[in-house]
This record gives sequence, C-alpha cells and structure tokens, in this order.
Amino acid sequence: MKKHLISLFMLISVSASAATFEAEIEARQDAYSGIKDNVEVVGDMLKSGEFDYAKFEMLGEKLTKHSSSLKSLFPEGSQEGSNAKKAVWKSFDQFSMGLDKLDQGFQDFYAAAKAQDQAALVAGFKDATGTCKGCHRKFRNKK
Ligand code: HEC
Repeated sequence: MKKHLISLFMLISVSASAATFEAEIEARQDAYSGIKDNVEVVGDMLKSGEFDYAKFEMLGEKLTKHSSSLKSLFPEGSQEGSNAKKAVWKSFDQFSMGLDKLDQGFQDFYAAAKAQDQAALVAGFKDATGTCKGCHRKFRNKK
C-alpha cells in the first residue's frame, strides 16, 4: 500500500511539471492564433480602404497584448508538445529579436491608430507582418 502511494505521488509530481509548460504552450499558441485572426481583419480593412481608426485602435490593442506576451512564453525546456523547433532555444537571441520586431511593428500600428496617421499605420503593419514567414521557416515545425 505504501509503495503504491509513493508511485502515485511520483506520478502526480511528474504530470504537474509537464503541466507547467502546457500552460505556456497553450498561451503562446493562443496569442499567435489571435494575432493571425486580427491581422486578417486589418488586412481586409486596408485592402478595402476602410480607414476606421477606432476599429484599428481596438485591433491594435489586441495585437500588442498578444505580441508583447510572447517573449515570456518560451521558457527553456518548453519545446515538447509544441510546434516550436529546438532552434528557438539554440538561437534565442535571434528568435527574441524576431519577437521584438513583431511587437514593435504592432506597437507602431497601435500608436498610429490613436494618432490617426495612415502612413505610419500601414508601415507598422507591414513591419509586423513581414516577420511571420522568416521566423516560421527557421523556428516552427511544418504541420
Ligand atoms: C520570432 C518568431 C515568430 C514570429 C515573428 C511569428 N511567429 Fe508565428 N509561430 C512561431 C512559433 C515558434 C510557433 C509555434 C508555437 C508553438 O507551437 O508553441 C508559431 C505559431 C504560429 C501559429 C500557430 C498557433 C497554434 O495554434 O498552434 C500561427 C497561426 C502563427 N504563428 C501566426 C503568426 C503570424 C500571423 C505572424 C506574423 C504577424 C507570426 N506568427 C510571427 C514563431 C513566430
């Protein structure tokens, strides 16, 4: 009985430590999905010439909330069970710079939405969305 209890405790603590990263992985995947959805909305608005700054501001708030959260959501050892490649932690400086660029682009977009500055808004959006493909090629597994 005692032996069973010990192995039960071991099982619980093992799954508890795996669950720690599950939360981070889920949070970063949710953040990326949110970015993708909002990027699509902004892209459609720009294409159709719908310069609704109140809406851009609302979208900018969401985008920056997600993009600024990402940096803390890639703790060392959190690769398993996700689509992140080992390269994320091997070249963390480069990966981090990519996240900074993504976040900076959305921060510029958000600030430009508040200032109702069309050129800066488009530029910030382009800066941010120009980072996706290159980073995925190097740091994300193909599905
Ligand atoms: C600095 C690197 C980096 C940048 C920049 C980046 N991504 Fe990603 N993205 C990743 C990594 C790594 C994953 C895999 C995360 C995981 O599975 O834990 C990912 C996953 C995703 C996913 C899948 C989320 C899920 O539900 O599994 C989507 C969608 C996505 N990214 C969209 C984007 C878009 C859109 C942009 C640009 C606006 C972007 N990403 C910019 C690295 C990046």
